[in-house]
Amino acid sequence: MTIHPIDVIQHKRDGLVLSDAEIEGFIQALVKRDAEHPTPTDAQAAAFLMAVFVRGLNAQELAALTHAMRFSGEVFDSSPLQGFVVDKHSTGGVGDKTSLLIAPIVAAAGLKDPMISGRSLGHTGGTLDKLETIPGFRTQLPLEEMLAIVRKVGFAMAGQTPKLVPADRILYELRDHTGTVESPYLITASIMSKKLAEGLNGLVLDVKTGSGAFMQRDEDARLLARLMVETGELAGTKTVALLTAMDQPLGRFAGNWVEVQECVELMQHFSPQIDFTLSEEKLRLSADLLELTHALAGHMLHLGGKAATPEDGADLSEWMLLDGSAYRNFLEMVELQSDSWEAARAALERPAEFHRPAAMRVLEAQSGGYLAGMDCRQVGWAVQRLGAGRAKPGDPVSAHAGIEMHVKIGDRIEKRQPLITLYSEDPDLLHEPEAMLRETIRVEQEMPDRAKLVREVLRR
Ligand code: URA
Repeated sequence: MTIHPIDVIQHKRDGLVLSDAEIEGFIQALVKRDAEHPTPTDAQAAAFLMAVFVRGLNAQELAALTHAMRFSGEVFDSSPLQGFVVDKHSTGGVGDKTSLLIAPIVAAAGLKDPMISGRSLGHTGGTLDKLETIPGFRTQLPLEEMLAIVRKVGFAMAGQTPKLVPADRILYELRDHTGTVESPYLITASIMSKKLAEGLNGLVLDVKTGSGAFMQRDEDARLLARLMVETGELAGTKTVALLTAMDQPLGRFAGNWVEVQECVELMQHFSPQIDFTLSEEKLRLSADLLELTHALAGHMLHLGGKAATPEDGADLSEWMLLDGSAYRNFLEMVELQSDSWEAARAALERPAEFHRPAAMRVLEAQSGGYLAGMDCRQVGWAVQRLGAGRAKPGDPVSAHAGIEMHVKIGDRIEKRQPLITLYSEDPDLLHEPEAMLRETIRVEQEMPDRAKLVREVLRR
């Protein structure tokens, strides 16, 4: 039966339930469009998106849309990998660098993680931009090479190939121009089609909530988490979502190289084979990063059968840092993915020395009290405007731009105490972010409540 795009659009517009065949037909036609078969046109695809935005999708429709998008191009064939294939995905945050620790940790414990990551989006950072600050690091890997690296090391970290989930590329760009980005149904299909195209047995989702998240309210984040869990499970992938706080940058740094530095220094600190120690204060500032890393990795290890409970999984995750195996794995992955291993190794051996911003400035407290909070989205934008992010797609990002937090919410603060250090490769880029940070950091006399980092765990 021929599927006509106009019928699909009208059915969704009128609140009818779309059949699997209608959804499949629409997405296939969208990807295969050519001069002879020009429909759906961009206008029809945009009308479809708006109809979905307004009417929503039921669980079966969402599963069908995700399935059609997932198989709209090539997929990663994980079947030659022996072992449980797992990944995690974050909906995006500030200073959110858990992927750099989690992938080598779960691989060290025996799982396989073919991690496909994204670039910075809006006020949030991107794992690929961080990794590319390692000298010679390649994030564009053909799928066969990715498979070979996962087989050898247990994980690889790369970007989406042009042929993987092409339907998302087309729809995402249209959503960006048609006011249809913020639909939980369209976000679910977009994220889950790409993750499921990795051929996963298990997936752990870090769904952020709070001022630095795309979904700022708990109820919106919870709905998104529920839809993603349901969609993953319907596709046969064991899926768990953690609702986690994004009220302040995660850990000590936010930026590009500085986030690699933070993770590498933590791995070095915990590795018994490496003679390097972080101060108590620096460890304290990274405590939330470590807590979230072990919570997420704990769930991955539990799903993969390596731990009886997620809590046991979190303990196992800590061990993978403490015996040095996660760090060894990380170095091996970089050796295979960097075109200039000697330069990469030198940078990773002394990450603080490799951090060479041209300009820096220290933001000091103007009064004493407690760090009460901030608009974390504004902090994220300040980091991007220091040079860490892009003004438009395709722009280069600065390796050494970023911020270092010297305090966390709830800390006692003395007048003139350093709160944040700003780093940039261009001194002219310091002024606006400094003003943005000054405006948003709240120091008050009352000690605030400390919010829980992991708010909820959602399973089917
Ligand atoms: N990330 C994605 O990949 N897709 C969305 O729709 C939102 C965030």
